[in-house]
Amino acid sequence: MYSLETRCIHGEAHSVQDANYAVSFPIYQTACFSHLTPGHNPTGFDYSRESNPTRKFLEETVSSLEGAHDTVAFASGMAAISAFFELFRPGDRILCGEDLYGGVVRLIQQVALKNGYQIEYVDTTDAAKVAAAIRPDTKAVYLETPSNPMMRVSDIAAIAEIAHANGAVLAVDNTFMTPVLQHPIANGADFVIHSGTKYLSGHNDTVCGFLCSADPEQAARVRLISKTTGATLGPFECWLCLRGMKTLALRIKRHVTNAETVRDWLRGREEVDNIYYAGSGMISFTVKSPEKALSILKNVKLITFSESLGGTESLITYPIVQTHPDVPDEQRRRLGITDCLLRMSVGIEDPADILGDLEQAFRADSEK
Ligand SMILES: Cc1ncc(COP(=O)(O)O)c(C=O)c1O
Repeated sequence: MYSLETRCIHGEAHSVQDANYAVSFPIYQTACFSHLTPGHNPTGFDYSRESNPTRKFLEETVSSLEGAHDTVAFASGMAAISAFFELFRPGDRILCGEDLYGGVVRLIQQVALKNGYQIEYVDTTDAAKVAAAIRPDTKAVYLETPSNPMMRVSDIAAIAEIAHANGAVLAVDNTFMTPVLQHPIANGADFVIHSGTKYLSGHNDTVCGFLCSADPEQAARVRLISKTTGATLGPFECWLCLRGMKTLALRIKRHVTNAETVRDWLRGREEVDNIYYAGSGMISFTVKSPEKALSILKNVKLITFSESLGGTESLITYPIVQTHPDVPDEQRRRLGITDCLLRMSVGIEDPADILGDLEQAFRADSEK
């Protein structure tokens, strides 16, 4: 098998090939495929909600990078997460990490609630707490590591062991680390989730998501859900993500070195109280007052005040308002998501320009 860097570019042993051997896999912009006779279609493609060559090429590339049996590409990360939650039945108990992207908390509390799941939040940074919370009726553990926005790290291998010993599956959102830095399935996870909108696509130009399954039976259930509920990714977005992923390994290296440079710079600033960093391109930090946080957001010029992450451009966001407004107040306070917290997605620009912009934004209102 080729190295991960090479597989970002070429994938691995794709089952689909372009008829003209195009080097860049084409966009099969078609809703349907013709049949030769009833029930007989030599390529296996019928209808693009269910499967499409461009999507298949993308899904096989992501499966290769994540070491998955199968991957489904969805119209967004949230569509992939919703499909994961569709795997369960009323009464099933699901343990969730305490610090999750706010949209997942909204999904759990405002949409999936009617499905009658018993959801409990656990501090997954301590595997012993997961062991204490898990019971025979627990069907799944769901976590982000590092988490959004507090960068809390969980031990995937230890939690997978606890989950499996109790007959539960483990799903890990690998959006922040990507398969370049972390391999949940190799560490025992049963499902990997991505907001492909972020590092995988990598250019802030498309929204997509992935649900990767390690086990063939679970993968078949995900396929049934995806073709039936229908939130699969369109061919053009598949192509954009494929194109973005060719440079994933290169980009991640630069994101990380740039983020480390920003972390070191923040460490020297008296306006900064706490820095949360776990080795990806993402960094969160608190400043001494909400006024300072708002002033930084107002004054950044190169760094864009925007709520996504993982693209070539540096972005900064205000989690309490932008990404986590639907997380209950008490939960936010306990986690440290305060009005002094900023989250930065460090891009791949020249680090000197990123620091220069931070420098002037930190200084701006204090000089007036
Ligand atoms: C860690 C994480 N998972 C999932 C999602 C949801 O992905 P999408 O916005 O592509 O639906 C996000 C979005 O910000 C995220 O940060």
